[in-house]
Amino acid sequence: MQEKSISVRKLYEAYEKGQLKDGQDIVLMGWLRTNRNNGKIGFIAIHDGTAFKNVQVVYEAEKVDFNVVSHYPLGAALCVRGKLVLTPNMNQPFEIHSSDFTLLGDVAEDYPLQKKRASFEFLREEAYLRPRTNTFDALYRVRSVLAMAIHTFFQEREFVYVHTPEITANDAEGAGSVFTVITDGEDPINGFYGKRASLTVSGQLHVEAFALAFKNVYTFGPTFRAEKSNTPRHASEFWMIEPELAFADLDDDMACIEDCIKFCINYILEKCPDEMNFFNQWVDKTVLEKLKKVASSPFYKMEYTKGIEILQEAVKNGHKFENSKIEWGMDLQSEHERYLTEEVVKGPMFLINYPKEIKAFYMRENDDGKTVAACDLLVPGEGEIVGGSQREERYEILKAKMDKIGNTKGLEWYLNLRKYGGCIHSGFGIGFDRLLMYITGITNIRDTEPYPRTSNNLRY
Ligand code: 4AD
Ligand code: MG
Repeated sequence: MQEKSISVRKLYEAYEKGQLKDGQDIVLMGWLRTNRNNGKIGFIAIHDGTAFKNVQVVYEAEKVDFNVVSHYPLGAALCVRGKLVLTPNMNQPFEIHSSDFTLLGDVAEDYPLQKKRASFEFLREEAYLRPRTNTFDALYRVRSVLAMAIHTFFQEREFVYVHTPEITANDAEGAGSVFTVITDGEDPINGFYGKRASLTVSGQLHVEAFALAFKNVYTFGPTFRAEKSNTPRHASEFWMIEPELAFADLDDDMACIEDCIKFCINYILEKCPDEMNFFNQWVDKTVLEKLKKVASSPFYKMEYTKGIEILQEAVKNGHKFENSKIEWGMDLQSEHERYLTEEVVKGPMFLINYPKEIKAFYMRENDDGKTVAACDLLVPGEGEIVGGSQREERYEILKAKMDKIGNTKGLEWYLNLRKYGGCIHSGFGIGFDRLLMYITGITNIRDTEPYPRTSNNLRY
């Protein structure tokens, strides 16, 4: 049955190409968005999720079982057969005139979605239905296109896509926020794998090995962190893109990040204009202007040390942070990051060369002996969306660091990479959901994931 039907997207594409013919037969399947009539003529808007737009179907009261058709409810699944009519002077450039409707799925009266706008909070509770609303219809399609943008960017640049494992024996970030994997009732250490296993917090260590064989690589997959932080930006399951570049230093790394973010923005602006116009109108009235500006201006670079000085200065001048004790060596909170990117730079910025104590063990130590070659990309409204670094390629220095924190055991292979044709290399991790927030203007990560996972939240 599906073969004969056409998608809404194909209809609009055919229209743009001038290929729609007045009077041609159309079969359309989708869900009812609105149904109104003036007693003589009725109008049903059909949505099928292939495009942001609906298609208007017009019926004459006399030619259908009016009492039935005019009562098809919001959300009903319909098959419509009719004739295409070009309407160049109307709001929609074409419509379908039909007297042949099949109700494929009726809607019970307790259907939770109604015509009026529902709040994000309400829709989070109805996560299985929210893809039917305008906002989430737009959002999940942009999410899909953004994944394609990522792959296109890296594939066009000869990066090899690597599927790093989801189950691992190492805590790559050394942050200790891992989920342990066990089978029912087993002891976490002497169980299935004969050692402690966890869900990955990062594919970086695994993908580094591939960078030293394929030069440029990336992973793109789910990532798990048992962070209890109940913020709009943290999920316990999120998607991360982790590229790794051989023969590349921190500057090359940042150039790649900047190109990638700009590419993604332009890709979405080009492929999802209806969705982006919707976000600009209903979610964040500045989002289009912001994205266009970001896509066309260089990202600012600032040393961590300079950032600390600016923050100290701000406190001196009376700026109130929740944490106003600013000192060199501290890990910046989101409020500090946001002050720098929103109030000082007023755009995306790299904060670079962080104190080694607050960053992961694999980052390359700078000549000052105090900092590491790290970069975080901070953006207004959100703070960090990308974290990257040049990796420590010097065997002895890395070994000393790993011995000190006690994670050498089990990661001998990772150290060996430095002995076997190791070279300078760099990489980064883009939080996919955070990038999607930034591009759409959506302010809560729970509204960017189909079924968000956060602490105490596992309903669906
Ligand atoms: O800064 P992070 O922890 O860096 C790494 O994991 C490195 N291994 C990346 C690399 O160099 N290959 O995480 C990278 C990004 C963050 O900038 C953030 O956007 C996102 O991942 N992220 C989260 N997103 C949602 N929820 C969380 N709990 C996140 N934790 C990190
Ligand atoms: Mg980080």
